[in-house]
Amino acid sequence: MHTAHEMSEWSAFSLHESILDAVAANVAILNDRGEIIAVNDAWVQFAEFHQLAVDNYGLSLNYVSFCESLDAADAVDAKQGLQDLLAGEPGPVRFEYQIFLGNDPLWTRMTATRIFRDDRTAILLTHEDITLQRRTQAALGRATAALLHAEDDERRRIARELHDGTAQYLTGAKLMLGAMKTEGRAEKIRLEVEALLANALDEIRSLSYVLHPPALEEMGLGPAIRQMAEGFARRTGLAVQIDIADDFPKMTRPIEVALYRVAQEALANVHRHAGSPRATIGLRQAGEMVLLSIRDYGVGLPESAQAIAGVGLAGMRLRLEFVNGHISLTNVVPGLLVEAWAPFQPKPAA
Ligand SMILES: Nc1ncnc2c1ncn2[C@@H]1O[C@H](COP(=O)(O)OP(=O)(O)OP(=O)(O)O)[C@@H](O)[C@H]1O
Ligand SMILES: [Mg+2]
Repeated sequence: MHTAHEMSEWSAFSLHESILDAVAANVAILNDRGEIIAVNDAWVQFAEFHQLAVDNYGLSLNYVSFCESLDAADAVDAKQGLQDLLAGEPGPVRFEYQIFLGNDPLWTRMTATRIFRDDRTAILLTHEDITLQRRTQAALGRATAALLHAEDDERRRIARELHDGTAQYLTGAKLMLGAMKTEGRAEKIRLEVEALLANALDEIRSLSYVLHPPALEEMGLGPAIRQMAEGFARRTGLAVQIDIADDFPKMTRPIEVALYRVAQEALANVHRHAGSPRATIGLRQAGEMVLLSIRDYGVGLPESAQAIAGVGLAGMRLRLEFVNGHISLTNVVPGLLVEAWAPFQPKPAA
């Protein structure tokens, strides 16, 4: 602890000094006039690292006047808060603000607490670096916004499909039934109506299946992935090899939903981007985790991160993070290996 001369009067602080030095935050002690009478090691290192333009790490500087000299709204608030404390307000007071020292602005949380000793007032002032916290918050906000956008897009797509596809078939069928009255060619029209209604039914079925896979709840993840992958293979012509044990245990719903969606998106990506005639999809327990892997034999992920700008991979990552899992993407030449890990949580027996 670095102290100004006056600090010797505060001898009872000697134990506290070493405690304060062990603290990661920048700590200063102000006397009842607002002058800095001691700073901890972190404060000194911060001043040295950023080459702050203050003498002796700011010792003896009047911090209240210093705040006043800064031409910023939050410095005015901070000054007022400190003065209130010195005037007897119970506190503590807290402020979060940005400081500009290098290229990247830092976010700081200042906390000022009043302490009493032998009728004397002092202020314990701490500055914590909360830059990482702020950045993470901002990133989370952006990810949430992107997710909401994706949800909107999805709804728009569903609406368009219902409007342009299903509704057209139904309208056609209605018109035909109307024509039936006048034309008297009942049998031919009946066949056409039947075909239109069958198309509409097909579309509604596959749409509702994509929105909510019924198999997942009934039979659990293993068989549901198998069914989905077989359907996908039929529709796209992709040869999918499925390595999933028949008796793979059912797991809790959030884990199953997350892994199912990952499998769906990974297969869609193989079809859209990989240029691979085949893929392998596997599900197995690995210690305390469950591992879902999807491998293709195509071109692999592009080199540049900018080229990987879709919502699909980001969505996989988020879904897994929500269930305390994670994802790894590895180019294995030829192709891409997607490995989705999640905690293995068997479904409790009902
Ligand atoms: N299996 C793969 N093989 C090769 N490249 C892939 C594969 N999977 C993903 N990519 C690359 O990564 C990019 C991002 O994939 P992502 O799923 O996030 O977005 P997308 O599929 O382009 O769009 P969407 O948001 O509809 O999923 C793709 O555009 C593609 O370039
Ligand atoms: Mg995708």
